[in-house]
Amino acid sequence: MYTILVANPKGGAGKSTLSTQVAGLLAQTKQRVVIMDLDKQQSATNWLARRPASLPRIMAWNEDTDMEELRAFAPQWMIIDTHARLRRADRTYLLSRANIVLVPVNPSVFDIEATAKFLLKLHQDPNVKSGKVAIGMVGSRTDSRTRMAQELHSFFQRSGLPVVLYVPDSVVYPQCARDGTSIYDLPRNRTEQQLEAWQPLVVWLRGQIARIREREAAGATPTPSAEPGVVPVA
Ligand SMILES: Nc1ncnc2c1ncn2[C@@H]1O[C@H](COP(=O)(O)OP(=O)(O)OP(=O)(O)O)[C@@H](O)[C@H]1O
Ligand SMILES: [Mg+2]
Repeated sequence: MYTILVANPKGGAGKSTLSTQVAGLLAQTKQRVVIMDLDKQQSATNWLARRPASLPRIMAWNEDTDMEELRAFAPQWMIIDTHARLRRADRTYLLSRANIVLVPVNPSVFDIEATAKFLLKLHQDPNVKSGKVAIGMVGSRTDSRTRMAQELHSFFQRSGLPVVLYVPDSVVYPQCARDGTSIYDLPRNRTEQQLEAWQPLVVWLRGQIARIREREAAGATPTPSAEPGVVPVA
């Protein structure tokens, strides 16, 4: 199983939006996905509860999950949606259980400053240092014509980390949040522009799968999955 940790200590950075959209993306490509929601606001869990039964199934993995059902589902991906106040020990544990960390950032100087500090912490983590965990930067709610979008882009360039996606600022995302859907679940004629914007993430994820497999073929131990309950919902 591949694990994607979605994290940024800034509230409202777009973590739950990204977590649910990535889950929807993977589920629509016939991947079996579970979401671990560590935020007591339960945005991702509530999104799952609203998800129409006609759409590809995504399971919640928490302490109440029926383990028989989970085993039968045999998840291939776990998405971990975090809250803004993740403690150091919890971050360390989650990074030891992740293959990828996606960091969504709003085009705002406050968000950029907070994220810069967070990236310093990520770079000190042994699992990031060793290359086990890859970091992908995501621009949230970005309108490429704005000055702040340019500043966000410069920040990403200075970070030296790959920018895997700019999520456009669009009403479709709050609508998806309301309906338990992702852009991948909607009619193509409504989402053409959005799907195009997300394509770099799809390509990057494919590259990540290849990277993880290569590491394992070269003898790296497969990353164990995060267990519910180890990191408290906060
Ligand atoms: N690309 C977008 N376009 C328009 N609105 C968006 C977009 N991304 C997120 N939003 C809205 O911005 C708000 C914050 O997003 P979200 O809840 O995903 O952030 P978060 O990082 O999970 O917040 P928290 O730190 O509270 O968990 C939500 O109302 C969401 O619907
Ligand atoms: Mg959230």
